[in-house]
Amino acid sequence: MSATLTEKYPNYSPGLEGVIAGISTISEIDSDRSSLQYRGYDVHDLAEHGSFEETAYLLIYGKLPTTAELASFKAVLSAEREVPSQVYDVLRALPKDTHPMDAIRSAFSTLAPFDPDYEAPSTDDAANVRKAVRIIAKAGTMVANGHRIRNGLEPIKPNPAHDTAENFLYLMTGQEPPAKTVQVMDASLTLYAEHGFNASTFACRVTVATLSDLYSGIVTGIGTLRGPLHGGANEEAMKMLLDIGTPDKAQAWIDDALEGKKKIMGFGHREYKKRDSRAIYLTKVAKELGIEKGDTRFGEIADILEKTMEERKNIHPNVDFPAAYAYYLLGIPIDLYTPIFVIARVSGWSAHALEQLRNNRLIRPKCIYEGAANLDYVALENR
Ligand code: SDX
Repeated sequence: MSATLTEKYPNYSPGLEGVIAGISTISEIDSDRSSLQYRGYDVHDLAEHGSFEETAYLLIYGKLPTTAELASFKAVLSAEREVPSQVYDVLRALPKDTHPMDAIRSAFSTLAPFDPDYEAPSTDDAANVRKAVRIIAKAGTMVANGHRIRNGLEPIKPNPAHDTAENFLYLMTGQEPPAKTVQVMDASLTLYAEHGFNASTFACRVTVATLSDLYSGIVTGIGTLRGPLHGGANEEAMKMLLDIGTPDKAQAWIDDALEGKKKIMGFGHREYKKRDSRAIYLTKVAKELGIEKGDTRFGEIADILEKTMEERKNIHPNVDFPAAYAYYLLGIPIDLYTPIFVIARVSGWSAHALEQLRNNRLIRPKCIYEGAANLDYVALENR
């Protein structure tokens, strides 16, 4: 920010950087310790020893489930996986080259009026919890079947025996996915589920803070996440890695990019000034996948980019960088990377929407006006 702005307006912070905009009990980012906790539990423990379903339960209900609670939560998710055929009609009506983020945003807009609690007031907490569970259950079905429809295939029915990660992979390919693929996808959903007042979550809270409904908050979140400075970075990071191609080209590529003041997708973070804790975990997973698949080039390119970015700019990879090449090695189409982020983040968005509505105050910041003032109105014919 230019010195004049700081001097002139000491209370103004571009991009709300460093501004406290709320109090939450959902997650804590510790930049110095490069750690992330969901309701007090380290995400590495949740990713390593838990599951996305346990994480979603924790975010929505505020505690880890017992065996019985997890079983009944999974049963509700399975029962709620399918979506009305009208959602598929809308997805069929979209142009074939519609980006899957626009497709999933349209799908949720279409889904909303079919929710049995559609008429419930937006302050009905119990109805909102029921809606949140349906949203978590259906996101993967709509992303995967939307992918099938865009590729000229018919949507297929979710398998009630599958959890969220497995259901998404099964619907996307029409095949039963390998256990390792399910395990990596499940861990990535846990890591992507929640991250405090990031842009899309804050946008979701702004929406429900007007007493608009949860589905509108979800649609706001999707529209916000789409941007390459936010969730869209994982797709851009993979395109960058493919553009570089082989490790021997990486150094020249990054030197040239930094020379040209380019933003390196998958690097940097507003909150983490050291490493993004999620990137630490996913990098390990992505590199192991590379060895397993006999394709270690992305891990090798990553090492060169990370070393250069740290040395030259003290900037580190964020979650989107290792997620990109992990998904690529799993054979996930690149244009589904950010929609996968949606499948996970609908749990965090819902938790924040519930929290906002339980102690709501309209979110409406001030702005500094620097435009013209007190002008005389000039009649049209005299302008
Ligand atoms: C996500 O907020 C969250 O929690 C988001 C997220 C979540 O889980 O919800 O973690 C998910 O969105 C991760 C971020 C994904 N986006 C990207 O990978 C896009 C590339 N990254 C950058 O655009 C940037 O790092 C941001 C947007 C993520 C953060 O930017 P800030 O905090 O606004 O910092 P800035 O743009 O003001 O940069 C400060 C300096 C600048 O240098 P100078 O102009 O002062 O010399 O750092 C440089 C920037 O140029 N910089 C980068 C860079 N990121 C910052 N330079 C090159 N490449 C980068 N990626």
